[in-house]
Amino acid sequence: MIDILPINTQKTDTSRLESVDFDHIEFGKVFSDHMFAVDFVDGEWQEPHIVPYGDIVVSPANSALHYGQAIFEGMKAYHQADGGVALFRPLDNWARLNVSAQRMCMPEIPEDLFMQGLKELIRLDAQWVPAKPGSSLYIRPFMFATDGFIGVRPSFSYRFIIFTCPVNKYYTKPLRVRFEQTYVRSAEGGAGYAKAAGNYGGAMYPSKLAQDQGYHNLIWTDASEHRYVEESGTMNIVFVLDGKVVTPALSTSILDGITRRSVLALARDMGLTVEERKVSSVEIMEALAAGKLEEAFGVGTAATIATIATIGYEGQDYDLPVAPATAFSHRVRAALDAIRAGEGADIHDWMVRV
Ligand code: COI
Repeated sequence: MIDILPINTQKTDTSRLESVDFDHIEFGKVFSDHMFAVDFVDGEWQEPHIVPYGDIVVSPANSALHYGQAIFEGMKAYHQADGGVALFRPLDNWARLNVSAQRMCMPEIPEDLFMQGLKELIRLDAQWVPAKPGSSLYIRPFMFATDGFIGVRPSFSYRFIIFTCPVNKYYTKPLRVRFEQTYVRSAEGGAGYAKAAGNYGGAMYPSKLAQDQGYHNLIWTDASEHRYVEESGTMNIVFVLDGKVVTPALSTSILDGITRRSVLALARDMGLTVEERKVSSVEIMEALAAGKLEEAFGVGTAATIATIATIGYEGQDYDLPVAPATAFSHRVRAALDAIRAGEGADIHDWMVRV
């Protein structure tokens, strides 16, 4: 095991920074100059490296490619009002990565290895953190199996990598989503709570069917009855129902979103009633008909706070009322933006300077 971490750093001699048009970046298509990488071999994490971002060589027989032994995180770094850079809740991402690792029979990552690798990478590529409001540096930590072995058992060796992308918005318009009542993202007892690659691969076909019908995304419902709201795949879902902030309670089939946690904490700070409970599609549609569904929005690292404008239910589309400037989603977005930019009081100690 590595105790003290001298990170072997090989800097690029051809930075791509000058070639990037930061005002017109499409989400996930532009990668910063460097990445952090460390291998797990013989039961131990090996010497960590920072190297120029680029392709990697892996065994074609690794079980990430064949059986989905792969997990990831999504997190962000923000330009600060004083010119510095800070990470939003990085230890929450580290802890959740280890929850996913345990579910997928992968080794846990020690906190110091994760945090030191992350901070050194962000410091080295600090110029890639966009300063424009609404922009950020998206960070993608991930781990995958590397054994060259075709049998079905957990790999003995793994690689953990972090790379980063400057990003603007993931969703550029208010969303059209529909309740999914045929396919299932995850059942209770499955791996839906883990940020495992297969959860996303399995969701692509039903999501594509919805996209072909003009929706951005699905609202997944529970596996046994297709009755209760789960999440939306790229984000958790929050409703404002009759003045209360309501969201599905966590379970083994729902990702424990860090933006979800943050939004609920801020709602409580604002003195609002928060209910984490079962919420059915019928309840949502009845509330909408009765004028009691005030807001619906997705919450996620990439999605941020994504307004839902239209919900599809049993073949019909229903438009939601346009939230006024005083609506919770606008206030919580502004509060989060201020904390992340180092402009609002960070009473929960969410920000970590690099
Ligand atoms: C995130 O919000 O970070 C995600 O991982 C969702 C999506 C981009 C896969």
